[in-house]
Amino acid sequence: MKFLVTGGAGFIGANFVNYMVKKYPEDMFINLDKLTYAGNLENCKESENEPNYKFVKGDIADREFIFDLFEKERPDVVVNFAAESHVDRSIEDPEIFVKTNVLGTTTLLDASREFGVTRYHQVSTDEVYGDLPLDRPDLFFTEETPIHTSSPYSSSKAAADLFVKAYHRTYGLPVTISCCSNNYGPYQFPEKLIPLMISRATADEKLPVYGDGANVRDWLYVLDHCKAIDLIIRHGKVGETYNIGGHNERSNLQVVKTVLNAVNKPESLITYVQDRKGHDRRYAIDPAKIENELGWKPEENFDTGIAKTIQWYLDNEDWWKNILSGDYQNYFQKMYVDKGRVEE
Ligand code: NAD
Ligand code: DAU
Repeated sequence: MKFLVTGGAGFIGANFVNYMVKKYPEDMFINLDKLTYAGNLENCKESENEPNYKFVKGDIADREFIFDLFEKERPDVVVNFAAESHVDRSIEDPEIFVKTNVLGTTTLLDASREFGVTRYHQVSTDEVYGDLPLDRPDLFFTEETPIHTSSPYSSSKAAADLFVKAYHRTYGLPVTISCCSNNYGPYQFPEKLIPLMISRATADEKLPVYGDGANVRDWLYVLDHCKAIDLIIRHGKVGETYNIGGHNERSNLQVVKTVLNAVNKPESLITYVQDRKGHDRRYAIDPAKIENELGWKPEENFDTGIAKTIQWYLDNEDWWKNILSGDYQNYFQKMYVDKGRVEE
C-alpha cells in the first residue's frame, strides 16, 4: 500500500511516520509537509534513509500541486495530520487556520475522490466537543457528544470534520475520523504546555500558568495515539468517528508541578498569568468505542509517559534549543512578554 501522510514533519505526524515506516517495510510512506514554523525535518531523521520513505514539500491547500501529486503518486491511503494546531495562535490570527485546516482538508478530499483512494483518515481533536464543567467528573466526550467549539482552532477542525463526513455521505468517499485528547512526547513544539514548561524550568525561567491553573486536560502519550490511528485505518469502520484517550486527566497545575519536581526546580518558578480567551475548562474522553470495537488500549499512563518525555527533552536539548533560538523568540516576546504576561 502507498500512504500519503500530510503534516508528517510535525509532532504527531513525525511520530506516526517513524512508527509506520519501521513497522511496515512493505508499504510506502510519502510525507507531505509545508514545513511551517512547526514542521521540522529533524523529526523524521530516523526514517529519511529508509527505502519505503519519501519527503515532499508542499501545501495541502494548493489545489494544483495536490492534484499533480495525486496523479503522480496515486496513494491508496491518505492520513491528514497537516494543520495549524496551536489554540493561542488561532486567537491572534484565525485566517491561516481556515486556509490550512478547512480549505486544505477539502482540497485533499477532492483529490482523494478524483483519484479513488481506498481510505481517507482525518486526524481530529477532542476540542471539537467544546469543554466539560470541572464539577461533573462523571461526564466524558463520546462520539455522540454534539460539536460545540470554543476557539478559531477548534472551529476550523470541526468544520473540516463536517466536510469529511459530507464527502462520505454525498460521494461515498471511504473516510474515518479520530478525535484524540492532548498528546505529549518527543518532538512536540515548545509552544505547547509540556515542552514549554520543561524547556523554561531547566533554564530557571518563569512558568506562565493561564488563569487559576485548574483547567483539566486528558493526556495521552503520542505513540498510543499513533497506534490507535494505525488500527483505525486497518480495522475501523468506514464513515465512523473514533475517540482516543486514556483517562489520564490532570489539571495544568498538576502537570507543571510534575515537571518541576522531575527536573528538581522550585514551585516558586510558577507565575499565574492572564487567562487564554475562551479557555476550555475540562477535556475528558470516553474511549469505550475504540477499546471495544478495535481492542485498543494505551500502553503508557501519565506517570510512565511523562517520565519518558521529560527524559527525552533532557537528552535532546539541541533539538529544542535550535527552535528556541530561531523565530520562536519573537513569538514568545509577542505572546507573553509584550502582553505583560511574563517579565523577561
Ligand atoms: P504540529 O503543529 O506539531 O504539526 C503540524 C504539521 O503540519 C507541521 O509539520 C506543519 O509544517 C504542517 N503543516 C501546517 N500547515 C500545512 C499545510 N498547509 N500543508 C502541509 N503541511 C502543513 O501539530 P501536531 O500537534 O502534530 O498535530 C497534528 C494533527 O493532530 C493536527 O491535525 C491536530 O489538529 C491534531 N491533534 C493534535 C493533538 C495534540 O495534542 N497535539 C491532539 C489531537 C489532535
Ligand atoms: O485536546 C487536543 C488539543 O490539545 C489539540 O487539538 C491541540 O492541537 C493541542 O495544541 C492541544 O490544545 P490545548 O490548548 O489543550 O494545549 P496547550 O498545550 O496549548 O495548552 C494546554 C493547557 O495548558 C491549556 O489549558 C492552556 C494551558 N497553558 C498553555 C500554555 C501554552 C498554560 O497554562 N500556559 C501556557 O503557556
